Amino acid sequence: MKTRITRAFQCSAVLAAAGLLLSACGSSGDDGSGQTGATSFEGRGPITFVAGKDTTGTLQPLLDRWNKLHPKEKVTFIQLPTDADAQRQQMIQNAETKSDAYTVLYLDVVWTSEFAAHRWIDQLPEKQFPLDKMLKPVVETAKYRDGLYAAPSTSDGGMLYYRTDLLKKAGITQPPATWAEMKSACAKVKKLPEAKDMSCYAGQFQKYEGLTVNFSEAVNSAGGTVTDANGKPDVDTAEAKKGLDFLVDSVKDGTIPKEGITYQEEDSRQAFQSGKLVFLRNWPYVYSLAGKSEIAGKYAVAPLPGLNGPGSSSLGGHNLALSSFAKNKATAVDFMKFYTSEESANYFLKEAALAPPYTALYDDQALVKQYPYLPVLKESILRAVPRPRVVQYGDVTAAIQQEAYAALNGSKSSAQALKNLQKDLQQKYAAQ
Ligand code: GLC
Repeated sequence: MKTRITRAFQCSAVLAAAGLLLSACGSSGDDGSGQTGATSFEGRGPITFVAGKDTTGTLQPLLDRWNKLHPKEKVTFIQLPTDADAQRQQMIQNAETKSDAYTVLYLDVVWTSEFAAHRWIDQLPEKQFPLDKMLKPVVETAKYRDGLYAAPSTSDGGMLYYRTDLLKKAGITQPPATWAEMKSACAKVKKLPEAKDMSCYAGQFQKYEGLTVNFSEAVNSAGGTVTDANGKPDVDTAEAKKGLDFLVDSVKDGTIPKEGITYQEEDSRQAFQSGKLVFLRNWPYVYSLAGKSEIAGKYAVAPLPGLNGPGSSSLGGHNLALSSFAKNKATAVDFMKFYTSEESANYFLKEAALAPPYTALYDDQALVKQYPYLPVLKESILRAVPRPRVVQYGDVTAAIQQEAYAALNGSKSSAQALKNLQKDLQQKYAAQ
């Protein structure tokens, strides 16, 4: 591990070794929250960390670092599938059986309300996390009814990856800001002999959480909305139809390759890296991995395009939550502080291009020089539209996935899909 993870971590190690509790390092049983809701955490010993597959390979080295400093409070990594829906299912199953197998959950930002409302995760002591140093929209994703239920860890904002070498060769000087510009840039690039077999664009269009993300982005980027923050739908509109039509027409006319409707994040990353795509919508982690691929040095990022100008991303990311059924919660809270510290965020940024919650890291000029995607990413996160913050999020996303997919695979017109979706979401909203 190149980045040094030092002071904050040693601090808790020294205290633990001396058998001391709390103080400057902010440790252990005192919740320090000044709130009535936050639990007092007790128990030290082994814990588990539960997250989707570690595609960037940077997670285990950080856990190793913790384990070295805390030999009596070791954390074991439980890896779940890459697919967000499958992760959610397994975490819910663990909660419903009140199992203590999972301690700290790497919770997708869209699940906070559901997990908090069911009391599957504990309220956290707010004052023990440096929330005032973090981007506001990111902190909001960790809250439910004004209480903090997760420690902001990794944010995520969608960006448009593009092939700088091919655009330049085709005489295009700027990345596209609109969907029409993107299509015309592709037409020019595809005239190059080396690009004739390439496809123009892909995102994540398989029927899973990624489709909810990409569908919502298309709707928002055409001036529409899917729901408001409380889940009240307004999706049967001319604007939303323009957004969905962009995706549907792009599948029909081959702008998005046929297999594009089977892609999750990793499939689309592989397609871009192996030279099959001119443009790709994906999260920042691709920036780092693509740099180790055959297109290294031949890509850059721009804001997502939209109908009449730059579009907006769905707000993504993951926070650390504490399972209500876990043992050794004092250790867990210390581990959460370690994992979500600015130092760890710096490590994940440098090693894996994961989006930090900390504002200062986006504004550090030395970092920006080295990681030129940072300003685009910051803008993407600040302008991002959150998915509905509702307790029944699982039902809402399932309805979106079903109708958006039916439109993409041509089994329903986009007008019909939006009509059905509005009705479905309205019923769920009324039943809340
Ligand atoms: C990324 C995002 C997450 C989103 C998922 C969809 O992991 O961080 O918020 O739900 O992609 O596939």
